[in-house]
Amino acid sequence: MEWPATPSVPSAVKNYFDVEGHKHVDLYEYQARDLFEAHGVPVLAGIVAYTPEEAKLAAEKIGGVVVVKAQVKVGGRGKAGGVKVAKNADEAFEHASAILGMDIKGHTVNKVMIAQGADIAEEFYFSVLLDRANRNYLAMCSVEGGMEIEQLAVERPEALAKVAINPLVGIDQAKAEEIVAAAGFSAELAPKVADTIVKLWDVFKKEDATLVEVNPLVRTGAGDIIALDGKVSLDENAGFRQPGHAALEDKAAADPIETRAKELDLNYVKLDGEVGIIGNGAGLVMSTLDVVAYAGENHGGVKPANFLDIGGGASAEVMANGLDIILNDSQVKSVFVNVFGGITACDAVANGIVQALEILGDKATKPLVVRLDGNNVEEGRHILAKANHPLVTLALGMDEGADKAAELANA
Ligand SMILES: Nc1ncnc2c1ncn2[C@@H]1O[C@H](COP(=O)(O)OP(=O)(O)O)[C@@H](O)[C@H]1O
Ligand SMILES: [Mg+2]
Repeated sequence: MEWPATPSVPSAVKNYFDVEGHKHVDLYEYQARDLFEAHGVPVLAGIVAYTPEEAKLAAEKIGGVVVVKAQVKVGGRGKAGGVKVAKNADEAFEHASAILGMDIKGHTVNKVMIAQGADIAEEFYFSVLLDRANRNYLAMCSVEGGMEIEQLAVERPEALAKVAINPLVGIDQAKAEEIVAAAGFSAELAPKVADTIVKLWDVFKKEDATLVEVNPLVRTGAGDIIALDGKVSLDENAGFRQPGHAALEDKAAADPIETRAKELDLNYVKLDGEVGIIGNGAGLVMSTLDVVAYAGENHGGVKPANFLDIGGGASAEVMANGLDIILNDSQVKSVFVNVFGGITACDAVANGIVQALEILGDKATKPLVVRLDGNNVEEGRHILAKANHPLVTLALGMDEGADKAAELANA
């Protein structure tokens, strides 16, 4: 989730560039579940499985109705077919066979969680997060859970209670009661939900999290309150006092493109869209994501495919590595190169692009829109015009370039 912020900048990038460029560690649902359990938040049994056989054994162990849940670090798994109810262990085997290997928004499922089935009577929403804009913490709560919070915030903002949290006090019993009252819980449910919220604050504070989200928090037929889906982001800056957190980072299952980008020392974050982005300077790249997201609204809703900052010295080699990474992303349909020439002037960048395309040869297959500005811009544009590469389109401005790239991605 993302809150509150420029609506178009994808949260993955925000998570990446929190304070001073330090990184967050987003947890899998099963890891969030384990942290919840450790802090006394009510959860159901859950066992991770990597194969259908393991899924079957886990289902037998838990017994009764179970839910097979894709473990990927992206929301909306239910809608994507990654959450399936199994009446028995054989069904769990079948669902796990279908879900393992599935692609959910560009994330390959290589493990599932077999969760005890809940008898859901009602679904609610709760989250607490670092509210950067207000230099504070913010709790959000709603009696209308289940759907994506971004959607709820847009469609029924009045149903989403937002309560600022004083970092020095946190969420004590009184604050929790204020939150549940603001969300409109019944007098009968309010105390139970408030208790759970106090425990969720415990997770947030003691684990040095920047986000703890439960969606849905449910009431079961028997009247219990249970955290059924959890999303937790940990603050990597606090790693020095959280020795247990290093083990939660799964380097092996990281996105293969991100892993390769890391090897090449590129500042890259994979996103869900179709327009590959290359820029120099984190600020410029962030703005480029915004502009492309806006332009995409006029072109079938295409979105930025990644964040990639090639930094100050945009040499041919770095440009080639960057392009190689982006062109390897099968979701990418076009690329927008947006560079502001500074110490590395535009002519050097233009030469870099031309040489990068030579290096890549047949591997360069997708249309490239290039916008150059700044130091030696005329020479830069001249070099690209002269090279006249069939895949390259020159754009004069950032808006124009974003629009063209979005159009090409939607073609
Ligand atoms: N253990 C469970 N028992 C019963 N239903 C579940 C269970 N876990 C999830 N669900 C149902 O599936 C929906 C989607 O699951 P969820 O874990 O929220 O995944 P996502 O948010 O990624 O779609 C939930 O809103 C809930 O209705
Ligand atoms: Mg959910």
